[in-house]
Amino acid sequence: MLITAAGTLLSLLAGRAMAETVHGVVVFTRHGDRTTKHYGAQELTRLGTTQNFQVGSDYRSRYIEAGSPQRILNISEFNYIPSEVYASAPNQGILLNTATAFLQGLYPPLVDLNSETASQTLNNGSKSTSPLNGYQYVTLQGVSSNSPDAIWIKGDDGCPAVTSASQSFESSSEFTTRLSSTRDFYQTLYPVLQSVYDINSPDDLSYAKAYDIYDLINVARLHNASSAQDITDEQLFQLRTLADSAEFGYNFNLSQPARSIHAQTLSAAILNQLNKTVASEGQLKLSLLAGSYDAFLAFFGLAKLTDLSKNFYGLPDYASTMAFELFIPDTAGSFPAEPESDLRVRFLFRNGTEGTLDPFPLFGTGADSLPWPEFVREMKQRSIGTTEEWCAACRSSASFCAVYTNQNSVFASASPSGGMSNAVAGVVGAAVTLGAVGIVGLLAFLFVRRRRSGDDAVVVMPADERVSLRSVSTGVEKV
Ligand SMILES: *[C@@H]1O[C@H](CO)[C@@H](O)[C@H](O)[C@H]1NC(C)=O
Ligand SMILES: *[C@@H]1O[C@H](CO)[C@@H](O)[C@H](O)[C@H]1NC(C)=O
Ligand SMILES: *[C@@H]1O[C@H](CO)[C@@H](O)[C@H](O)[C@H]1NC(C)=O
Ligand SMILES: *[C@@H]1O[C@H](CO)[C@@H](O)[C@H](O)[C@H]1NC(C)=O
Ligand SMILES: *[C@@H]1O[C@H](CO)[C@@H](O)[C@H](O)[C@H]1NC(C)=O
Ligand SMILES: *[C@@H]1O[C@H](CO)[C@@H](O)[C@H](O)[C@H]1NC(C)=O
Repeated sequence: MLITAAGTLLSLLAGRAMAETVHGVVVFTRHGDRTTKHYGAQELTRLGTTQNFQVGSDYRSRYIEAGSPQRILNISEFNYIPSEVYASAPNQGILLNTATAFLQGLYPPLVDLNSETASQTLNNGSKSTSPLNGYQYVTLQGVSSNSPDAIWIKGDDGCPAVTSASQSFESSSEFTTRLSSTRDFYQTLYPVLQSVYDINSPDDLSYAKAYDIYDLINVARLHNASSAQDITDEQLFQLRTLADSAEFGYNFNLSQPARSIHAQTLSAAILNQLNKTVASEGQLKLSLLAGSYDAFLAFFGLAKLTDLSKNFYGLPDYASTMAFELFIPDTAGSFPAEPESDLRVRFLFRNGTEGTLDPFPLFGTGADSLPWPEFVREMKQRSIGTTEEWCAACRSSASFCAVYTNQNSVFASASPSGGMSNAVAGVVGAAVTLGAVGIVGLLAFLFVRRRRSGDDAVVVMPADERVSLRSVSTGVEKV
């Protein structure tokens, strides 16, 4: 009796899951554990590659392995097929390696995976396998920072409009209040950090360097026995939440869309990849983009995820991923004949390597998934979809923008303070409506966090001491 009931429940659950068919997915991932950004030249650690590999393996389990309810229709289970997978990362070692490690988990070496397909038989009868146990060489597109395509994953690099909008956070009352309220707290860290070569006075430590300080200490605690071990969990938590609030502030402001131009280009890239799956009737099945936490934060704000949970104001953990799943709510053996009416998109986020990949409603809709046309409309409203638009919105001097400056184009007519594309202007409209809600939410969140983590007295420091974390074209990698 009980067994029957359990059996029925199981088949119901399975039936529910089986009633969907996934046709494609776009994944955006953050790098795993790395050395600190403070000294520059940061790189993925062994732990970091393991994290990205693990996350890639988990995506394999969900979208590729036979028997998974979310398996992408007809995706090759063992052999990587180039037309099915697209992967891209900026030409930065840490992000290229992040994508590589993820892809190694997605399509692991064949010898242990599927020995039959691992070897090829030559005419003379002898068998051959690839090196490293049948390693699979998944193609990864590296994008140079001089390429117009650099804007899709790193739309903030080489974009003066983002830089100035971002830095205007330092003029906000939120910033100046926190700068002063946390002054004493940061000063207490000086005995620990004075050993770091370029921190020569307690004044080098303040909320104006919230992320830099958090990163330095977080990395040191993980990797370096000799330093930072005197920092308590409580202090680290405080440092992290302060870095959360600072980085969110630099990356998103409801009434200032230029602060998240990088999320607007990323939105266009995500839409473009999903649309390739639609246009190819499901031939392109999985796209991977590797990027930075700042694009996550900016996107969380842009897609109104911050209205759902205060957690979206926080920095995503190493190797976090967000996924956009293209599916139909039915079982089917082929791509839908009427994609416009049948396809839906679901957004999912996984925080680092520990959590689960969970769905969240986008754009304040409250819906677990959206019809494809509605998703397209919402994403387009938030997108910068062409290089020309980006050049204008950014007022960029990137070499590939020159072609637009010589014409009587949108770029030429952009004013220094307000060069804004229609797409951006659209976001402003939406943003103004929601500005008040977002700011109240942010304040409430910070208040709660501060209370949770104990009382740090509030006080101040000149903002001009802040060394910009933003790179202008070829500066420090922001990953
Ligand atoms: C499934 O994929 C294989 C290649 O892996 C292809 O030959 C076949 O036509 C596909 N089937 C369908 C129904 O798309
Ligand atoms: C078959 O050809 C391959 C490639 O030329 C060679 O390495 C291998 O030794 C050959 N095997 C035999 C049994 O001749
Ligand atoms: C957001 O932007 C508005 C308008 O530029 C500005 O008044 C406000 O201070 C900004 N808030 C933050 C937290 O940067
Ligand atoms: C560990 O920290 C000490 C003191 O800050 C520093 O001299 C040393 O280079 C660090 N070691 C590593 C591996 O980062
Ligand atoms: C999708 O791709 C098709 C074919 O390339 C194109 O005509 C259409 O405009 C694209 N739609 C979107 C939303 O990008
Ligand atoms: C991810 O985890 C970090 C803590 O590790 C937290 O601060 C952040 O809010 C979380 N983000 C989400 C969206 O859950």
